[in-house]
Amino acid sequence: MTKPLEAPQDGTVSALLEENRIFKPSDSFRSKALLQDERIYKEAEANRENFWSDQAKKLDWYQPWDKILEWKTPFAKWFLNGKLNASYNCLDRHMKTDRKNKTAIIWEGEPGEVRKLTYEDLYHETNKFANVLKSLGVRKGDRIAIYMPMIPEAAMAMLASARIGAIHTVVFGGFSPESLKDRINDAGAKLLITADGGWRRGKIIGLKDLSDEAVKACPTIENILVVKRLEDQDTQMKDGRDHWYHDLKEKVADYCEPEQMDSEDILFTLYTSGTTGKPKGIIHTTGGYMTGVTTTMKLVFDLQEDDVFWCTADVGWVTGHSYIVYGPMANGVTQIMYEGAPDWPKRDRFWSIIEKYGVTKFYTAPTAIRAFMKWGHQWPQKHDLSSLRLLGSVGEPINPEAWIWYHKHIGSEQCPIVDTWWQTETGCILITPLPGITDLKPGSATRPFPGIEAKVFKEDGTVIKEGGGYLGLTSPWPSMLRGIWGDEERYKQQYWSKWPNIYFTGDGAKIDADGYYWLLGRVDDVINIAGHRLGTMEVESALVDHTSVAESAVVGISDEIKGTAIAAFVILKDGHTAGDEMDKTLKQHVVKKIGAIARPSKIIFTEDLPKTRSGKIMRRLLRDIAEGRALGDVTTLADASILESLKEKYQEE
Ligand code: PRX
Repeated sequence: MTKPLEAPQDGTVSALLEENRIFKPSDSFRSKALLQDERIYKEAEANRENFWSDQAKKLDWYQPWDKILEWKTPFAKWFLNGKLNASYNCLDRHMKTDRKNKTAIIWEGEPGEVRKLTYEDLYHETNKFANVLKSLGVRKGDRIAIYMPMIPEAAMAMLASARIGAIHTVVFGGFSPESLKDRINDAGAKLLITADGGWRRGKIIGLKDLSDEAVKACPTIENILVVKRLEDQDTQMKDGRDHWYHDLKEKVADYCEPEQMDSEDILFTLYTSGTTGKPKGIIHTTGGYMTGVTTTMKLVFDLQEDDVFWCTADVGWVTGHSYIVYGPMANGVTQIMYEGAPDWPKRDRFWSIIEKYGVTKFYTAPTAIRAFMKWGHQWPQKHDLSSLRLLGSVGEPINPEAWIWYHKHIGSEQCPIVDTWWQTETGCILITPLPGITDLKPGSATRPFPGIEAKVFKEDGTVIKEGGGYLGLTSPWPSMLRGIWGDEERYKQQYWSKWPNIYFTGDGAKIDADGYYWLLGRVDDVINIAGHRLGTMEVESALVDHTSVAESAVVGISDEIKGTAIAAFVILKDGHTAGDEMDKTLKQHVVKKIGAIARPSKIIFTEDLPKTRSGKIMRRLLRDIAEGRALGDVTTLADASILESLKEKYQEE
């Protein structure tokens, strides 16, 4: 369900609207850039299908396609009858070139261990991994859930799944067992791949224990495959169901023939939050997805053979899928993979990694940049960051202040910043600068990537040439989602029902006189907390699941670091008392149900919720209350008459 456009929740609009500084690519960057010529936009626009088929030809196909696109709104098929394998494209094809001995992954564990894997190492390991999957009875089309820390085996597990034609569903290691259970059950996964644990901020996260908890209610799971990451972890293994990866690995052959997949065969599903209480499994297929991520990886990050790329996302999110696993590896990039927190043991961990390995391209989220700003530039200043050539931003609008800080203190005013807009659903970056071409405006993701068509719309579906509205995508692109797992209706309703033939993104956007796009945040019941998507209804369901809660309403409120934080209004059942104890209990309950990312920053106990005559919760009023604009600082709204009078005032407005 979409609402009329409201100001985004973090105050970015007003800041963005005043921003008019322009940063041109430096001559030295432009002269070495892969793309230096604006004409690529025009050429792609003249024939989008040909543009994308030229890109697809850069992948290795067992069999070429016989048609580029079949578009029966809202169902797209790309590269019809083409056959390829994603793992082959990420690994095998490099075995025939110098990239065989090139470092693929430089991994650093949070406690400081280092592992370096060449493309050949990764190829051998993935072949073994794929044979282990087969030995556990996994076949083409079967679903595999992956719940892993940030270790190279997470990437191997994904590539191994792709190799044998299984469908992976990676669940972020910070999600609770309950969230893992829901995703496993929705996907009908027969295998769960996990690890004994991983490190985060000096503590062990016992992923195997959490997995055990989850699978108690997962009837489809037949086996759990456990990668050993820790030294002395006491791990309970259930006979017949649980298997150590290192044991099974010894028993299988070295080579696994990649499955020849149809372009439209599913590569993975990835769950993301929507406007209902239930996350949806976004479907991505092989040919189109691989084309989108391989192309954008190369052109947006201006990849050069000697680059050391670092995307700080977790593989549990789409950014990790597209720009840690498939995009970088299809391009044969050397990349950093880091397991832990940016402030562990100190607040310069990221900068020490950049210096140590000579990182050239660094891709992170505005929430991290705002935290770095708050910690102060003395931390990056301790390190030589002169290897950096380009910086990237993703996940939420970047406020100009953070952009300028990033540009100055991390990029020494030498590095272009690519502010990349995209979504789990879009598979790859869609709105972004091309760093050797585009003049940058801090806070703007600039223009649609070549071959992508985006427009800003009014509520009634008319196109806005200049001004604010909703972002829609007006022609199909190869890496677009193909649907929602098991719910075709929801796919149509969610993305294609607002205006005919136009994909509705759920984002507000403004287009300026130069045709630059300024993303303004979500306009639906999705909130973006520190770059992570959550549905307000998901958090509300978690709250009402607690025995003491009668009703709840969740809104996003602005937060200096996270961009948006969660405020929850809660009506308790009779006999339960509001207070610090209850506040703590309910916050913990949400963490238990969803995961730490969903912990409300603020709980406001109330006796009533302001609703419109038609029964809809007045979220704007709630936001104003939670942010102190309507009532001052409140934690309890005991007097229902206050709300009643506020409601009347807001209704008049
Ligand atoms: O609101 C937009 C915001 O993140 C949403 C997509 O979230 P998710 O599917 O989790 O994928 C995040 C990583 C691609 C979008 O609808 N978003 C993402 N990138 C930007 C952004 N908002 C503004 N600027 C961006 N660069």
